[in-house]
Amino acid sequence: MNGEDVIAEGAARILLSWRGQSVFYNPVGSFTRTLGVLVLAAEAELKGRSLAIADVMCASGVRGIRYFLESGAVDSVHFNDVSAGAAKVCRKNVEINQMENFSEISQERANAFLGRFYSDGTRYDMVDIDPYGSFARYIDNAVAAVKSGGVLAATATDLAPLCRRGRRSAFRKYGSYSLDVDFCHELAARILVKSVVEACGRKDLVATPLLTVYSDHYVRTYARIVKGRERFPHRRIHFLHVCPRCRNIWTLGVNETPPGSTSCTCSSPSLVAGPLWIGLLHSDEFLEKMKGQLGLLEVSSLRRVSRYMSCFTAENHLPPYFFDVHKTADRLDRVTPSIDSVINSLRSKGFDASRTHFNPTGVKTSAPYEEFAETLRTPNPSQIA
Ligand SMILES: C[S@@+](CC[C@H](N)C(=O)[O-])C[C@H]1O[C@@H](n2cnc3c(N)ncnc32)[C@H](O)[C@@H]1O
Ligand SMILES: [Zn+2]
Repeated sequence: MNGEDVIAEGAARILLSWRGQSVFYNPVGSFTRTLGVLVLAAEAELKGRSLAIADVMCASGVRGIRYFLESGAVDSVHFNDVSAGAAKVCRKNVEINQMENFSEISQERANAFLGRFYSDGTRYDMVDIDPYGSFARYIDNAVAAVKSGGVLAATATDLAPLCRRGRRSAFRKYGSYSLDVDFCHELAARILVKSVVEACGRKDLVATPLLTVYSDHYVRTYARIVKGRERFPHRRIHFLHVCPRCRNIWTLGVNETPPGSTSCTCSSPSLVAGPLWIGLLHSDEFLEKMKGQLGLLEVSSLRRVSRYMSCFTAENHLPPYFFDVHKTADRLDRVTPSIDSVINSLRSKGFDASRTHFNPTGVKTSAPYEEFAETLRTPNPSQIA
């Protein structure tokens, strides 16, 4: 096509440049877009109707186009991007995928685009924000553009301050302190969910996560947004405490935590992260609806998506952190056992335990750290990986 290459992702055929203008495209993001297709199909099934969505940072438009073509659940997409080049390429992609009658394209700053709806009353069944880095500067306008009962989808790729470096920048952007711990990606996800819940609270809205995913260096959460202030989930926002000496982990409600750290049972002062979301990261009911839509997907993506979906269900009701089998075995100077054998061993002692999608070597368990560590200190022969 005029020397420009068309690429295929799912059912979409996409140009990445058109008449000298090019757009951002990350093939690794295909997995998140595939999960988005399932989210929309599940949502339309729950609503019993098709949906109007806003793809607020659309770049090539691949996300909105795939949602439209593959979910069978979308009747209109409003594409937007601040870049003139993106708007131009997206327009061409809309034409290639024969979506002209089902879409609108704008070229505005996200906050101007979203803020306009605040005054004119337009609301979407799903608002999708997919920025470079943090969603913090868009989140207030984004939640306000979602219909009551609709879905906000928000991605953050700025995981460095939320994970290893920059407690201060995590606080500046999200109003929470991070910690350098083995489960830092889950911590990041829980800080991000808290910031969505908090943004909703400011607007007398309540957010409930439907699905929260860490993958390929980003976190993406889908949250149901409804009107009302009475059901604001105060009790699901806690500080998380880690004992640097005995590695105990516990959480305390924001109201229950005195300023600074508290003491562990070993009497060491704790390291503190948060405030963060300690409620469920996924809705069990919504996960089941998504699983019912797996038939929509191409065979090539089915295996990875199914594996993640099983993990989401298994991990959902376990504590808001996990232990890393490899790192713990290294610290204890023990041979690394297989993940499944650790899980079986914990279950045989009466604890709940599961893999987690946050880390292939992670184990979520209701057991305290010491019990977990004990399964690595005294493995039975079948536990060795
Ligand atoms: C990570 S890319 C989006 C990728 C796309 N959603 C996808 O799935 O392929 C971020 C996009 O946001 C756009 N952008 C950056 N700042 C923006 C702003 N303030 N308002 C609207 N768009 C913005 C960029 O031009 C870029 O196309
Ligand atoms: Zn301790």
